[in-house]
Amino acid sequence: DSHQTWGGRFSEGPDARVAAFTESVSFDARLAAHDIRGSIAHARMLSAVGVLTPDEFGQIEAGLAAIGERIAGGDFAWDPALEDVHMNIESRLTDDIGALGKKLHTARSRNDQVATDIRLWLRDAIDALLGEVRRLRGALIDVAEREADTIMPGFTHMQVAQPVTFGHHMLAWQAMLARDSERLGELRARVNRLPLGAAALAGTTFPIDREMVARELGFDSVIDNSLDAVSDRDFAIEFVSAASLIMTHLSRYSEELVLWMSPAFGFVDLPDRYCTGSSIMPQKKNPDVAEIVRGKTARVNGHLVALLTLMKGQPLAYNRDNQEDKEPIFDTVDTLLNCVALYADMMPHVTVHADACRDAARKGFSTATDLADYLVRKGVAFRDAHEIVGKSVQHAIAAGCDLADLDLATLKGFSTVIEDDVYDVLTLEGSVAARNHIGGTAPDQVRAAVARSRARLAD
Ligand code: ARG
Repeated sequence: DSHQTWGGRFSEGPDARVAAFTESVSFDARLAAHDIRGSIAHARMLSAVGVLTPDEFGQIEAGLAAIGERIAGGDFAWDPALEDVHMNIESRLTDDIGALGKKLHTARSRNDQVATDIRLWLRDAIDALLGEVRRLRGALIDVAEREADTIMPGFTHMQVAQPVTFGHHMLAWQAMLARDSERLGELRARVNRLPLGAAALAGTTFPIDREMVARELGFDSVIDNSLDAVSDRDFAIEFVSAASLIMTHLSRYSEELVLWMSPAFGFVDLPDRYCTGSSIMPQKKNPDVAEIVRGKTARVNGHLVALLTLMKGQPLAYNRDNQEDKEPIFDTVDTLLNCVALYADMMPHVTVHADACRDAARKGFSTATDLADYLVRKGVAFRDAHEIVGKSVQHAIAAGCDLADLDLATLKGFSTVIEDDVYDVLTLEGSVAARNHIGGTAPDQVRAAVARSRARLAD
């Protein structure tokens, strides 16, 4: 007969390859601290409703706490023959405190146990991630303030479009992460609900107090339907989806940093300690952190697809397929914490080359829209103004100069309403300063947006 906890009805233990194939302790041992926390709450409730005596609860609690300490200290031998983290801890408890340990699993199943453990684990992971995202947002806001007056080209289609300030660009990055923080907060509320009490799928015949367990574990509420409680993994899919969006944002930052650091742009430089070299080209300094972050986005997107696919064919209620949710969830959290922390460390040390940024903005006729707006203010219809400026740009391209280099007589040849004051709007500083409204790129607006963003970050 089998030595498994469930071995009663079996006449032989699992085939070696089956045991190796079905075990999960090699990766779900990460849930140990949360598993113990859940078990103590469960046992405390069992004693409150009279299923365990207070003395029995005391022994179980002390036994579990001692196991928790041993695990934290790296002094615990995980046995793959015991399948998973839950069975490893439970059978050690029985070894340690005797037959009483076998009472812990009363009114519970591994199905509601594991669902509870992941939710507890993920809640902590979300809180850690929120902290790192906040740190990165703070760093971006600081760079925005420092570079509020730095002019760079804004692009559409990667063609020079209109001048913007570097600070404004940093606040656009920050705005993406502000939404990410919001999203994490919203989905955290759906993670933070208690499955325990659903038992295997239908509930239990014991007079359990689920509200008490929820309070004990810091859950906001109890999951209503026992079938749903053990089989729902929406919360994990939502989390990995939000994580994919965060990675998508970091990947876009990465793409821009890689371009900006290319000597063809030369907008920014990163400290040597955030770059690596080439094994053949001695001159190279490569922005590998940004590139690897861009690359890591692929695996997180992969985890999202993995979880969606994992769920799509599952009938109610629990199926062992769900064991496959753990590695994608763990790896998503590990990847995100790493990438966001690295960016939060690195961003304050990005050097901005204001001259190169300004030169690039000067090159692409980036103030052409300002000239059109100027003509409109002098009574020309916008579509006519557009045409007039287009002709002026065509002329400047042929002459190999910038709009601001054309003399007044030449400009008047395109429209008689043009006067000497036109040169004010053709400057880069005039162009950015004129976009002076909420959400605009004017340095004063950037400073106001920095203040608002800091205030939002603080609460
Ligand atoms: N290791 C399993 C999982 O990750 C725990 C639940 C197993 N339940 C069961 N009835 N075999 O989902």
